[in-house]
This record gives sequence, C-alpha cells and structure tokens, in this order.
Amino acid sequence: MYSKAPLSIWVTGASSGIGREVAEQLAGEGHNVYASARNAESLASLVHSAKGNVTAIPCDVSDDRAMADILSNYGIETLDSIFLCAGTCEYIDMPVLDIDMVRRVADTNYFGIVNSCIAALPLLRKSPNTTHIVGVGSMSSYLGFPRAEAYGASKAAMSYFLDSLRCDLVGEIDVTVVYPGFIKTPLTDKNDFPMPFLMTAEKAAEVILKKSSKRPLKISFPSRLHLLLQAMKVMPGLWYNTIAARMSRAQGGQQ
Ligand SMILES: NC(=O)c1ccc[n+]([C@@H]2O[C@H](COP(=O)([O-])OP(=O)(O)OC[C@H]3O[C@@H](n4cnc5c(N)ncnc54)[C@H](OP(=O)(O)O)[C@@H]3O)[C@@H](O)[C@H]2O)c1
Repeated sequence: MYSKAPLSIWVTGASSGIGREVAEQLAGEGHNVYASARNAESLASLVHSAKGNVTAIPCDVSDDRAMADILSNYGIETLDSIFLCAGTCEYIDMPVLDIDMVRRVADTNYFGIVNSCIAALPLLRKSPNTTHIVGVGSMSSYLGFPRAEAYGASKAAMSYFLDSLRCDLVGEIDVTVVYPGFIKTPLTDKNDFPMPFLMTAEKAAEVILKKSSKRPLKISFPSRLHLLLQAMKVMPGLWYNTIAARMSRAQGGQQ
C-alpha cells in the first residue's frame, strides 16, 4: 500500500507493464489516478477495468510543447504524487551506432522525465501535503551493459536529473528513484538473452508502492541482482574484461 489517505496521483507509462500495474493498484487503494501513455485505447481499457477512479490523459512524454500544458488542459489543479514509468528500450546493433535511435530513446526516457516534471511541478507545489516524485530508472545505469549504449545512458541521465532535482526541492517535494531488475512486460518480452531473477509486473508494482510509502531516496529490487551488480561495481575489471565481454559475444557482439 502507498498511502491510506486518498491522494491525487499522476502515473505515466500507464498503458502497459509496470505503469499499468502501478495505476491499477493505486486506484484500488482509493486514490484519484490520472493515467498517461500514447495509446488511448489501452488507457480506455485501464479506465474500464480499474477498481477505482482513473482518468485517461493520453500524451507523448517526449513532446515538449504538448506536455507543458497537458495537466491543466484536463482541468487538474493539484497533485500529491507522480509515478513516472513511461519508458522505451532499444538495443544498439554493432557496428552501427544509430544516432536517430539514441535520440529516440533519450527523448522518451530522459527528456520525457524532464517534460513530466515541468508539467507536474506547479501542481505538486499547490498541494497542502508534502508531495512526491517517483521516477522509474533501471539497474542498467549502475554499469555499462552490452548493447545498452542508448538505453543505459538515458536511464543514467534521468536518475542524475532526479537526484539533482531532489537537492533543489528538499523539504518541499520528496524524490525517489526506482532501480528495477528484470520485470516481465512487453518491453522485456523482446529480449533474447537470459534475464536472472525475472519478476512479474504485478509484484514489481507492489514492491514499488510499498517501498515508496516510506519515501526513500532509492528503491532497488530484486535485492540479489542489486547486490551482485554493486559487487561488480567494486570489481570493474572483472565486469568489463570478463563477464560483460562474454555477454556481448553471446549477444552477437564483436569477437
Ligand atoms: N521491464 C523491465 O525489466 C524494466 C527494468 C528496469 C526498468 N524498466 C523501466 O520501467 C518502465 C516501464 O517499463 P515496462 O517494462 O513496464 O515497459 P512497457 O510495458 O513497454 O511500458 C512502457 C510504458 O511507457 C509508455 N511510453 C513509451 N513511450 C512513451 C512516450 N513517448 N510517451 C508516453 N508514454 C510512453 C508506453 O505506452 P504507449 O506505448 O501507449 O505510449 C507504456 O505504457 C520504463 O521506464 C522502463 O525503462 C523496466
């Protein structure tokens, strides 16, 4: 459970996967949920199936201009919390470093977070409660991963942005960055490599909401993968020269 008191909460990435589960569970707790993604049909099905109050706000988080007034266009005057789950993943296919793809991924995963914060900050400031920004990052930003030049860098940028924003909002708005491991969603269904400790989106949303209720700076799960990757961070030679190199070769990287 995230909060006993009913709150006004905006969830992005709510048409599928983690964001949809977060929106459904928050609505089930009795919160007033505003749900965003590009796919209006999927949002309509969420509004229909949710056991609670969900309003669909279709939008593209990478569209700077449209995002600036998106919330006021829907008559929303105040927000208590936002869960920024919108994201995309595309992998680099060496030897091609595709600049359009790198920009596309950054537009959603990094600039989408910036646009969402710009849209929500005035409404969070109007709430009489201490408000809360929760952004979904990724463990891929802990270390360099094979083929994740675009995805991992966009996640490192968004988590740095939120960490920095936290410094400037201290005492006013709490900021939590979430670092999930592998979660079974349409995003990971495309992966053709082993995904250790894979979890369901339902379980991931439960963990995110329960831990977010305490408003920590960071949430990392599953803890076994988190600890394993933290160990690799203190042994970068082992990670880059042996393990990541082997993973890259297994995924068709350079021999
Ligand atoms: N699954 C994992 O293992 C995993 C691990 C670590 C982190 N994450 C992160 O968790 C978040 C949710 O991912 P997921 O696994 O649940 O993937 P997903 O099922 O593909 O969900 C992604 C969501 O983001 C929305 N979205 C994508 N681009 C958008 C855009 N430009 N504007 C607005 N909405 C957009 C999608 O909706 P529309 O297509 O309808 O717009 C969808 O609702 C992402 O930030 C992802 O990077 C996932």
